[in-house]
Amino acid sequence: MKILLVASGAREHAIADALARSPQKPEIISVCTTNNPGLKRLSTELHVGNILDFPWVMEIAQKAKPDLAIVGPDDPIGNGLADVLEDAGIPAMAPKKSLARIESSKSFARDLLRNTVPDSVPQYRVFTSYEPKELNKFIAQDLKGNYVVKYDALRGGKGVKVSGEHLATIEEGMQYAKDCIEEGGRVVIEEKLVGVEFSLLSFVSGTQVVDMPAIQDHKRAYAGDTGPNTGGMGTYTDSDHSLPFLTREDLARAKEINRLTAQALLTACGEPYRGILYGGFIAVADGIRVIEFNARFGDPEALNVLPLLSSDLVAICQAITQGTLPEDLVRFDHKATVCKYLAPESYPVSKDQRGAVVTFPPVPKNARLFFGDIAENEQGILHVGGSRTAGIVGIGETLAEAETIAEEFCRQVKGPVRHRADIGTAALIEQRMQTMRALRTLV
Ligand code: AMP
Ligand code: GLY
Repeated sequence: MKILLVASGAREHAIADALARSPQKPEIISVCTTNNPGLKRLSTELHVGNILDFPWVMEIAQKAKPDLAIVGPDDPIGNGLADVLEDAGIPAMAPKKSLARIESSKSFARDLLRNTVPDSVPQYRVFTSYEPKELNKFIAQDLKGNYVVKYDALRGGKGVKVSGEHLATIEEGMQYAKDCIEEGGRVVIEEKLVGVEFSLLSFVSGTQVVDMPAIQDHKRAYAGDTGPNTGGMGTYTDSDHSLPFLTREDLARAKEINRLTAQALLTACGEPYRGILYGGFIAVADGIRVIEFNARFGDPEALNVLPLLSSDLVAICQAITQGTLPEDLVRFDHKATVCKYLAPESYPVSKDQRGAVVTFPPVPKNARLFFGDIAENEQGILHVGGSRTAGIVGIGETLAEAETIAEEFCRQVKGPVRHRADIGTAALIEQRMQTMRALRTLV
């Protein structure tokens, strides 16, 4: 069994780690944007280059003749690498370009969801030309000044601006909307939702959808949810596969939305979605709403759930690409996980620490270390890049135990890196629960 893994960092290190645990002992051929030390250890070949250069990727694929390919990051998926692989006869565990619009086009996603789960979509409008009067009326009157402006294409998580956070005045919001239209031809303006965000990722093969444990990410750079947005500074999952601030109904509805979305994608695109469907939700006063969908594993979300997977990831990928995904093929341990990302001290503001040396203590049995933007020299010395360095995962019977494991590990790492000490702590989780209690007693 030979697998081609298209990679950019820690998410794919976690995927490779789960593949390597398979009884099928697959041979992993990785193509990655960096010389990732984790992938280097787990792959028989690691090719470093531009993963958006499809002819280069395909040259490697055609030589390796893999049984299947897994594509981790959003850009190659959004740009149609699955189509190119399948045209060459290589089954891909990633949706084709048309289906990946659920992530790569905010307007496609919103329109599909409005027709599928209307009660779970915020009020929104798509503008394809700059109409200041209409735009002003929609933002100021219809949305009462509480709005979000979304660039309508992939922008590494940086295309969304929220009023009161990134946009101080309606004029600023209108200017950003104008910029989005000029650059991308389209912009989505929507109601700003207030609540607590969570993610539910599912393995999907057509209309067969098998869910993973629910996850909470922390996008802000600094403790207390302050500072600029990042790719995600850390995540946790609980042993019951739900989250402390969610009701049974919230989780059931999120699962139903992922199912209905997979079905709607089949109908809209005329072909089955095969890969990971990542539902980004927010629990609000009267239920849940969809914030966004992604067409891939999250990073760090994959770092939490894949170490808990007790069944065979290779068999799951085979089943997905073959079009039958029995539910009992997917099993997760009932344990809690806390992932804290180590990032260069000045991340995401500048890349001042790039090239600095970082050293890690030995990894205890109940922890995992997944390498992100880090390079290893010939002497085995590790140097940080400009982006997130490594995801540290603690695994325990309880969230408290998992948090302690991750935190103790992070504190022993030497080098100019930092992490958010508050992620997964009882205090932060209690704060989320209080937010939900306050919102829901208002209903
Ligand atoms: P997205 O790229 O759509 O996930 O948006 C990035 C982040 O922007 C989300 O994780 C939310 O924190 C925030 N966001 C997006 N849409 C909304 C919304 N309608 N209301 C409030 N916050 C939002
Ligand atoms: N952690 C958020 C994402 O992968 O999009």
